[in-house]
Amino acid sequence: MAPTAIVGLVSPAGDSSKAAGSDVNGAGGAGQAWSDLAPYYEQARSREDSLDRLVEWPAQREVLGDVTGRSVLDLGCGNGAKLAQLARDGASAAVGIDVSGNFVSAARPGLELVQGDVNELASIPVLAGRRFDRILFLQSFGYATDPVRTLQTARAMLTDDGFIVLTRTQPIRYALERAEQNGTSLGEEYFSTKSYTYRTAWNEQIALTKRTYTISDLLNVFGAAGLWVETASEPQLSEEARRRHPHKQEWMNKYLGILIFKLRALPERPAD
Ligand SMILES: C[S@@+](CC[C@H](N)C(=O)[O-])C[C@H]1O[C@@H](n2cnc3c(N)ncnc32)[C@H](O)[C@@H]1O
Repeated sequence: MAPTAIVGLVSPAGDSSKAAGSDVNGAGGAGQAWSDLAPYYEQARSREDSLDRLVEWPAQREVLGDVTGRSVLDLGCGNGAKLAQLARDGASAAVGIDVSGNFVSAARPGLELVQGDVNELASIPVLAGRRFDRILFLQSFGYATDPVRTLQTARAMLTDDGFIVLTRTQPIRYALERAEQNGTSLGEEYFSTKSYTYRTAWNEQIALTKRTYTISDLLNVFGAAGLWVETASEPQLSEEARRRHPHKQEWMNKYLGILIFKLRALPERPAD
């Protein structure tokens, strides 16, 4: 089953049927829900002890390497703050697309933040005819309703020596949470193909409904989109961060964190 997320609002009274009924196909459903969720997500992300600050962004930044003179496309860029940093680090062009349209205001030369849907990449005017040295899906790939098609479109926008950095939450984390909630086992939940709804820690009034995925699903999607994995990593807290934030280490010990993939295009197969 292809990994996909569906985002929905839950009423204050807790009517989760609204979440399950919402849909992300097109910017309408996801756009509205993420417009509501985005400020809470960014607030949580900016906390001094957020895992994004402590682990994820430093590891994502390292995989990106030197971006001086490089063009970067960030798909599902959130408020664009990571991209703004890449522009400060010397990226020649830094284009961010996000369905929420909730962007940082600081203008920088080369920084373009545009409201758009990762499911409609081919029809976003700012992307027409452009190529990028780095294309990012940082915790946003789950919102692609047709993951292979989305990755194929991104692959077609890569320069010859360009690469994609794609990160996803360890699927074991969600399986473990469901096993605890449902009184089932890790294996049953990891291999379940049923979508599931959970309230986000960013705002408990808002629920996400997600389709399950396994590590094999992810690797198969990459292959089907004509990409190969150059490196994969599972970043962890530094020794110093472990000492300063033991509760975060406790969380990581249980839920493992995120996966980071560096993907490159396979050569086109000659037509038969
Ligand atoms: C978990 S946040 C990650 C944000 C950012 N990439 C980061 O690493 O901090 C997921 C992002 O995906 C965006 N998103 C969700 N569905 C989308 C869609 N269909 N098209 C574009 N962006 C989408 C959300 O608005 C949100 O900013």
